Amino acid sequence: MADITYDVSSRRWILQMEASTYCLRRSLDDTSLQHIYWGPRIAGATASEMARAPGPFLVPFESPTGISREEYAPWGEIRFSEPSLKVEYADGTRGIEWLFEDHGVERSGAEQTLWLRFRDRLYPLIVTLYYRIHDGHDVIERWVRLENTGGGGPVTIEQAFSADWRPPRRECYRLTYLHGRWGKETQVAEVVLGPGKVVLESRRGTTSHQFNPWVALDPEASATEESGEVWSAALAWSGSWKFVVETTPYGEVHCAGGVNDFDFRYRLDEGTRLDLPAFVGLYSNKGFGGVSRGWHAYEREHVFPEAPDAVRPVLYNSWEATAFAVNEHDQIVLAEKAAWLGVEVFVIDDGWFGARNDDYAGLGDWTVNPEKFPHGLNPLIARVNALGMRFGLWVEPEMVNPDSHLYRAHPDWVYHFRHRSRTEGRNQLVLNLARDDVREWMVATLDSLLSEHNIEFVKWDMNRSFSEPGWPDEANRNPERIWLEHVRNLYWILDELRRRHPQVAFESCAGGGGRVDLGILSRVEQVWPSDNTDALDRLRIQEGFSYAYAPRVMMCWVTDCPNFVTKRTVPLRYRFHVAMAGSLGIGGDLSRWTPQELEEARGFIATYKRVRPVIQNGLLYRLRSPRAGSVAASQYVARDGSEVVVFAWGHSQQFGVTQGSLLLRGLEEEAHYADAMCGATYSGAYLAQKGLPVNLVGDFDSHMAHLVRTMPAHHHGE
Ligand code: DGJ
Repeated sequence: MADITYDVSSRRWILQMEASTYCLRRSLDDTSLQHIYWGPRIAGATASEMARAPGPFLVPFESPTGISREEYAPWGEIRFSEPSLKVEYADGTRGIEWLFEDHGVERSGAEQTLWLRFRDRLYPLIVTLYYRIHDGHDVIERWVRLENTGGGGPVTIEQAFSADWRPPRRECYRLTYLHGRWGKETQVAEVVLGPGKVVLESRRGTTSHQFNPWVALDPEASATEESGEVWSAALAWSGSWKFVVETTPYGEVHCAGGVNDFDFRYRLDEGTRLDLPAFVGLYSNKGFGGVSRGWHAYEREHVFPEAPDAVRPVLYNSWEATAFAVNEHDQIVLAEKAAWLGVEVFVIDDGWFGARNDDYAGLGDWTVNPEKFPHGLNPLIARVNALGMRFGLWVEPEMVNPDSHLYRAHPDWVYHFRHRSRTEGRNQLVLNLARDDVREWMVATLDSLLSEHNIEFVKWDMNRSFSEPGWPDEANRNPERIWLEHVRNLYWILDELRRRHPQVAFESCAGGGGRVDLGILSRVEQVWPSDNTDALDRLRIQEGFSYAYAPRVMMCWVTDCPNFVTKRTVPLRYRFHVAMAGSLGIGGDLSRWTPQELEEARGFIATYKRVRPVIQNGLLYRLRSPRAGSVAASQYVARDGSEVVVFAWGHSQQFGVTQGSLLLRGLEEEAHYADAMCGATYSGAYLAQKGLPVNLVGDFDSHMAHLVRTMPAHHHGE
C-alpha cells in the first residue's frame, strides 16, 4: 500500500511504496529540502534515524547547502552543482531565497500526493513540489508548480526543471540511456560516470530521435538483466528537454531534468502559474528487466489512455506500399487483401490531401485530393468498414509546405526570425502552434475531418525539428515561450479531439520514433518507434524501446524485402516473428504478395490474435539481447501466469551448431506448460533450469513458442 507520512521530530516525509521507500526532510532553518533516502523498503524509524544524521561539513569555497543532497535546488547563494530553478525578478534580482511554508498529503483512491510549498522570502514567487505515488508500484511522479502571487511584476523563469533524482551514495554509477537518429532510434548506450556532467537533451522542439527522455543508473555497473539495483527516471514531456547527470566533486550523483533551459525564458506574469511536466522515478532491485516491467505496469495502469488490459488491433498502413500515390481503387485492392489477412484497422498514410504528390507540396491543405479520391474518402471508408475494418488516416498538422494554400494565406504562421532564412526540412516549415489562431485553425480543421468521416484512427506525424524558433510579432513579449506553448497546445488539441471524438485512437509518429515519451503516451494509444522496418535492425530498436515503454504501444510492421532502408532480405516468417513482439501491423504491398505469402501471413495474424494479450500486456523478460551473440530472444508471461510466449531470432548461424535452449523466467517451478504449437509438455523447473529447446538453422531463422500452463502449481498432488 502506498503511504505518505510526516514525522515532526525528525522533520522528514516518508513515501512508502510497494517494495521501496523514498525519504526527504526540511532543513532545520527551513531554507532547503534535503534528500534522505531512495531504495529498498525501510522502516519509518530507520528513515527518521537517517534524517537526523548530520549534513555535510563546511568545505572551503562551498556552503553546506551547496554540497548537500538537495531535493530541488533553487539557484542562489553558494550553489554550483546543477540547479533546478533559476529566475530573474522584475527589479533585476537573480537568485532565489526560499523558505518552506506548508505541506499536505492528498489521498484519492489508490494514489497519494505529497505537496510541499516554498515561498521566496521577499519576492512574489511560490514554488510547490509534488510527489505522487500509487498502490502496487515503485514509481514516484514529481512535478513543480510555479506561481507569481503578484505585487512585484513578472518573474522571468530561465530554468525550471521538474525534479532532481538522487540515487544513494556509492563508489560510482553506470548510466544507461537511449540514443539514436532517424532510422536508428532507442539504441541502448551506457557509460560509467566520472566527475563532471553527462547532458542528454533535445533542442529540437520535439522529444527527438537523438535521445529518449529515459535513463537508468546502477551502482558500479553491478545490475544485470534480472538482478541488481537500478534507479530509473523518465520525463513526461514531448518538447525540448534536458537531463543533467552530474557527479559532483564530493562523489554525489544526481540527475536533474525537465524542459530544456536552452534558449528558454518564460515570463510568469502577476497572478499566473505554470505547471511543469512530470519527471517520474522508479526503483527496482530486479535488474533492468525489473525496471522495464515496473515501467510497463505503471504505464498500463497510470499513463496510457486505454484500460490496462486493452489490446491494440492489427493494423495495415499503405505507406511503404504506395507512398504518395494513393487513390480509391488501389487502396480498396489493398483493403480487401488486408481484410482477408485478418487486419482490423486500415490506415491511409501520406498523400491523400491537397496537392500532395510528393513531399514538396500540400502540407497544410487538409482537404481530400479530388483527383485521387473523386468521391471523397467516404466511399472508401464505407468499403473498409464493410470489410469489417476500422478506417484510419495520416495527418501532419503542425507542418506546412511553402507550396500550399495555407502558407500563401498565412506566411506569418510559421516559426521564423526577421531577416533570417526560413530553413526548410523535408521542404516544410513548422507552424507556430503557440499562436491562438493556429491552435484554433488546427483543432477546427481536424475536428471537421473527424466529424465528416468515420475515422477511428489517426496517425499524427511530425517530420522535422524546429529551426528559427522565432515569433517576430511577439518580440519583447517573451517569444521564447514557444518552447513550452507549442507542446502545451499540442496536448490541448489532442485532449480536445479525444473528448469530442472518443472513438478515435491516435498514434504518435515523428518520422519514426521522434516523439515517444510519457507525455504523449498519456494521449495516444500507440507510437511508431522507427521508419526503419528492417527486422534485424528492429530487434535493437525494439529492445531499447522496451527498456522504457510497454510492448502494447510499440507498433511493428511487417514490410517488403529488400527493405527500403537496409536493402536486406529476410524470410517473411522472421519478419512476422520480429513484428509480433509488439503491436502487429502490416506495411507491405499486399497486391504483390504471392498467394503462399498471403496464406502464411494470415496464419501468423491468427496466431498473433490468440497470443497478443500476453505480448501486449504481459511481463516481458528479455532472455537474450540482440546486442550479444547471434540469437536474440524475448519471453512474455501473462499476468496471471497462465500463458507464455517466447520468440527466438537467430540472425546468422556460425560453426554449425544449431541446437540450443532458452532458460525461461518467471514461471512456476511445479506447474506444467504445454507447447501449443508442437504439443511438448515441460515443468516450470525444467524450462527454468534446462530450458526450452530451440533449433535455429541458417541465417534469419526464428522460432515462436506458445506455452499454456496445464497444471498450476497449487493443483500439484491433488
Ligand atoms: C514519416 C513517417 O514516419 C512514415 O511512417 C510516413 O508516415 C511518412 N512520414 C509519410 O510522409
